[in-house]
Amino acid sequence: MSPDKTNDSALRARALRVIPNGMYGHQSARRFPASYPQYFERAEGCRLWDVDGRQFIDYLCGYGPILLGYQHPKIDEAAARQQKKGDVMTGPGSVMVELAEEFVRLVGHADWALFCKNGTDATSTAISVAREYRGSRKVLIAEKAYHGSAVWCTPLPGGVLKEDRAHFIYFKYNDIESLERASEEAGGDLAGILVSPYKHDVYVDQEPVNPDFAQRCRAICDEKDAILMLDDVRAGFRLARESSWARLGIQPDLSAWGKTIANGHPISALLGNERCRATMPKVYVTGSYWFAAAAMAASLATLHEISSSGYLEHIVRMGDMLRQGLATQAAAYGIGLRLTGPVQMPQMLFDNDPEYKKSFVWGEYLIGHGVYFHPWHNMFISAAHSENDIKHTLQVTDRAFEVLAKSPLAA
Ligand SMILES: Cc1ncc(COP(=O)(O)O)c(C=O)c1O
Repeated sequence: MSPDKTNDSALRARALRVIPNGMYGHQSARRFPASYPQYFERAEGCRLWDVDGRQFIDYLCGYGPILLGYQHPKIDEAAARQQKKGDVMTGPGSVMVELAEEFVRLVGHADWALFCKNGTDATSTAISVAREYRGSRKVLIAEKAYHGSAVWCTPLPGGVLKEDRAHFIYFKYNDIESLERASEEAGGDLAGILVSPYKHDVYVDQEPVNPDFAQRCRAICDEKDAILMLDDVRAGFRLARESSWARLGIQPDLSAWGKTIANGHPISALLGNERCRATMPKVYVTGSYWFAAAAMAASLATLHEISSSGYLEHIVRMGDMLRQGLATQAAAYGIGLRLTGPVQMPQMLFDNDPEYKKSFVWGEYLIGHGVYFHPWHNMFISAAHSENDIKHTLQVTDRAFEVLAKSPLAA
């Protein structure tokens, strides 16, 4: 089918008239090679079907939320059961208390949980709580780190005032000196540090956190009676069944969660410790859909699955298999490839590829052969990816490397 006669292209043309810029935000396919689909018909397990009937093994998992596979029966049945009883009501369902109890049981630093809808709600609420805690203003965040799409953190400048960011001070991730400089600049006005569990910025190699850097974040907050906020929206429950720095022995005061916590159902969470409890009644945050019970039931079922299944070991094993396969293939074709990030959240970038042209040629081959990879964003592996899916993927990637090796880009 010619690419301009597809259902996808017809939808894109209609969208241009009724959706700003045809599409917005991180799911816009506008910057991808032409054969990447914009619209999908359905999803199941680790597979996606686009509106033209093409099927893909999906390595984006909805950009993170799908931890256990699309349409996981236990999760979706829990949501449907609650939906039948009541979802958006004049007050929350009893499931809200059960869910908060389950988070407090699972996540070491958490003494309470507040639920919202998007990761941005959770990170923005964390900033407000940190500022209210001692009435201080300055918040330290890493340059280029993504914490959401509110004015204080959105990556594009449209609609953002200098004043919106007046009290943010930026440091380089993993760079203790720059963190200390930022803390000095904040002086006695430091409200807190917001930091992701590892460096998972788009377009670049991912970096594990240096444990000394993480310790320094905690120590600065302790010295200055400020709040350490861990942004676990993207990595939460993909690195641990706990908050992501627990394995380093470091607990934040607040942690922001979203994505995985309900396997695709719309809910996010802010978890906090005793230190922040008294501040909470002074910070007014809410939303028409924040108390909806079906997503809470889905989240509770997801937490049960997280506690009781071997999903974490599985995604690490699948990620390892994929990484080793890709590395071996790239070496065999003499192609410089950088595979970074945790294996279950892989980032893959080609050497000498500043404009992602190699990623595009390679990724487009994959799209044409039923595998969906992202050209510059970290990817995600779910519990539904099987050994056979990885093996099949590696058969396709082998041919993609061959195509790239023969292209003028390889020279
Ligand atoms: C680390 C991190 N924080 C916050 C957010 C914002 O989450 P949401 O898109 O649900 O608002 C994201 C989303 O990708 C994220 O990756």
